Amino acid sequence: MRIAVTGATGVLGQEAVEALVAAGHEVTGITRRDSGVPIVEGRGGSAIVADVFDPRDLTRAFRGHEIVINTLAHVPVGMSGLRPLAWREDDKLHLEASVAIAKAAAEAGARKLIQESTIFLYPDNGSDWISEDLALNVRNQAFRPRVREMRAAVDFATSGRSAVILRLGQLFGRDQHTTHALKATRDGDPILLGKPDHYVTLLHHSDAGRAFVAALRASSGFYNVGGEPITKKRWAKDLATEAGAQSPAKFYPEITQAIVGTRLDVQRRSLRVSSVRFMSETGWRPTVGPSTPGWSRR
Ligand SMILES: NC(=O)c1ccc[n+]([C@@H]2O[C@H](COP(=O)([O-])OP(=O)(O)OC[C@H]3O[C@@H](n4cnc5c(N)ncnc54)[C@H](OP(=O)(O)O)[C@@H]3O)[C@@H](O)[C@H]2O)c1
Repeated sequence: MRIAVTGATGVLGQEAVEALVAAGHEVTGITRRDSGVPIVEGRGGSAIVADVFDPRDLTRAFRGHEIVINTLAHVPVGMSGLRPLAWREDDKLHLEASVAIAKAAAEAGARKLIQESTIFLYPDNGSDWISEDLALNVRNQAFRPRVREMRAAVDFATSGRSAVILRLGQLFGRDQHTTHALKATRDGDPILLGKPDHYVTLLHHSDAGRAFVAALRASSGFYNVGGEPITKKRWAKDLATEAGAQSPAKFYPEITQAIVGTRLDVQRRSLRVSSVRFMSETGWRPTVGPSTPGWSRR
């Protein structure tokens, strides 16, 4: 199939392009800059330079593609997320670009839209499992861009078209966030939010890339995508093993955790998320876990 990927030079996008090409698809990566072209080509795709905020430019880029996959995100690293305006770009991508992408995909004649979303919209559910049926905790204005993005994808799924919204777990692998976490663990600095007995649902980049391929087989709907949830205490040990550190990764003191603000507060939640629906519908399985040796180099 001919598939267009937005955010194709980012962590998720590069993995998606490579996995889709490996599965035999003809993939076009969208980038706003000429320097993004070799990145997409390096993963086996071809590239089109286009502005993700301009529906007309996007419609031109999407023409001739049956599927559009939107992986755009710009998540601030570590505590830089506390800075005022740190989330401005990420918000703009979800509020404006994602909406423009859904509209342009319909206009260009695409039949399916696969939209990246996140498990961090679920409420803290302690040690209970979270399925797609649990109501989201999105009343705060900070989540408006993500809600608007979901609506745009749902609106796309009319007139015989379909939309698959993937609620991805916390990414780990070679990205800036995990590299930052591994360094903090080595240096003995605090890095984790929440409590040791809370759950975290992780998703390795390579498994995320393969999830976009599996999503081609899914019918319209919302799907959680993550590995087997583990406690944060376990994750702290796994980070230390991978970092070659003597002691487990440290939690921020309660006093610091109390003032992290709405955006980072989601990382304090206990999220034991089940991906059974996605696995049974598509056959996708996670292959790299936090106790798989060398996961940060894969
Ligand atoms: N579920 C999760 O946990 C999750 C999900 C997503 C990301 N993350 C994390 O967030 C961090 C950053 O991710 P990333 O490196 O993929 O993000 P990124 O490089 O900042 O953004 C991804 C792509 O989006 C495009 N983009 C970014 N800002 C843009 C803007 N203002 N206007 C137009 N296009 C823009 C860029 O494409 P061009 O420059 O080529 O146009 C870029 O390559 C990583 O550590 C990743 O793991 C986590």
